[in-house]
Amino acid sequence: MSAKDKLNLQQIPQHIAIIMDGNGRWAEQRGQERIFGHKHGVESVREAIEGAAEIGVKFLTLYAFSTENWNRPKDEIEGLMELMIDAINNEADNLNKNNVRLRIIGDTERLSERVKNKIKEAVDKLNNNSGLTLVVALSYSSRWEITETVKNIAIKVKNAEISIDEIDENLISESLKTNFMPDPELIIRTSAEKRLSNFLLWQASYSEFAFIETLWPDFTKETLFETINEFQNRERRFGKTGRQVQDDK
Ligand code: FPP
Repeated sequence: MSAKDKLNLQQIPQHIAIIMDGNGRWAEQRGQERIFGHKHGVESVREAIEGAAEIGVKFLTLYAFSTENWNRPKDEIEGLMELMIDAINNEADNLNKNNVRLRIIGDTERLSERVKNKIKEAVDKLNNNSGLTLVVALSYSSRWEITETVKNIAIKVKNAEISIDEIDENLISESLKTNFMPDPELIIRTSAEKRLSNFLLWQASYSEFAFIETLWPDFTKETLFETINEFQNRERRFGKTGRQVQDDK
């Protein structure tokens, strides 16, 4: 029996976010350059998108490149950027057929004009789709996002568009770059590392975490379904007692 058959289709998380980790180690285990791992990682990206779309996940966010990743060797950064734009462009038709919409979150001003243009092309092409929204976090970090949000709110206060008293959790959530999506119910990180690495810090307040051993290039649909199965067996209490949660059902 596949892990997919065991899923409770009534309780599929609306939003899953993934920290794709372990490409470098996967390549090193095979005596290859790190970029070899990233190339295989693109296959896993396809698996994750198809798997999520198959079971009706509404938002899938992939942490593809963090602001800290700009500190990697120049040729690795260039190789990764090429891979990403190739993957996004080569897959655009397929994504379109599957009704997938694409959004990018991150400090895209740091990307080259060429990368920015290619990405814009793909985002525009997929803009009218209404199925899964694929969110690629590119040149993203949560502290960057929160800092930008604080600046934008401060400007509104300065211009007397809002008062200090109007600043609450909702206003902050609505002012973040991620305001178009619900908070992720489930955040998966591959390769057995147990960190958030500056990813969706605000949005992860009530997320469940799955730190799995699989290295990203080995991640398949089956891995996704197994991880969701494990998530579905957890009790999410949101600060309440277990008894209250049972009584609310
Ligand atoms: C982490 O592995 C992986 C990355 C920094 C890049 C992931 C990007 C892709 C797989 C391409 C994504 C493409 C699209 C279209 C979204 P690592 O290099 O940190 O591995 P290590 O921890 O083993 O060194």
